[in-house]
Amino acid sequence: MAENKKYKVLFVCLGNICRSPAAEGILKKMIQEQGLENKISVDSAGTSGYHDGELPDPRMRQHGTHRGYQFDSLSRKFTSRDFDNFDLILAMDDNNYRNIVRLALDLESKGKVHRMVEFSEKYGHDHIPDPYYSGSDGFEQVLDLLEDACEGLLKKIKEQI
Ligand code: 4NP
Repeated sequence: MAENKKYKVLFVCLGNICRSPAAEGILKKMIQEQGLENKISVDSAGTSGYHDGELPDPRMRQHGTHRGYQFDSLSRKFTSRDFDNFDLILAMDDNNYRNIVRLALDLESKGKVHRMVEFSEKYGHDHIPDPYYSGSDGFEQVLDLLEDACEGLLKKIKEQI
């Protein structure tokens, strides 16, 4: 990778108000702590567009704040232009994965799409569960899974940059 070009990561879920903005905030904090801001950039989007322009769900923001994160990105819908703008696109569950891949026009674009759980180290879940209709436990579980997968992800990215 060219020295001045950042590696660009996009997290995608359904609403872009719970899982993907949390993943964005977690990875951004890890990047900042490791002084990698000039090498990696992070964004998030949703496949639905249901919550366009909204801050993350207040429950997710509150659970994140308790762990020292700031989740403050505004929701936006994933578009096919994102295939050109990102190096790696990470889906939170299989529905997200299918809805993203459906928009890919070529194999290079499709090859950028992976499932977040591929980078899990401690946990063996096959997807990051949607916490929207869950209680506090669901939000805490999502943060546990995302912290673990973000650690694995950052190790892999560092091998490539
Ligand atoms: P997310 O969670 O995909 O993790 O942002 C959801 C947020 C909103 C809805 C579903 C899931 N919703 O149906 O509005």
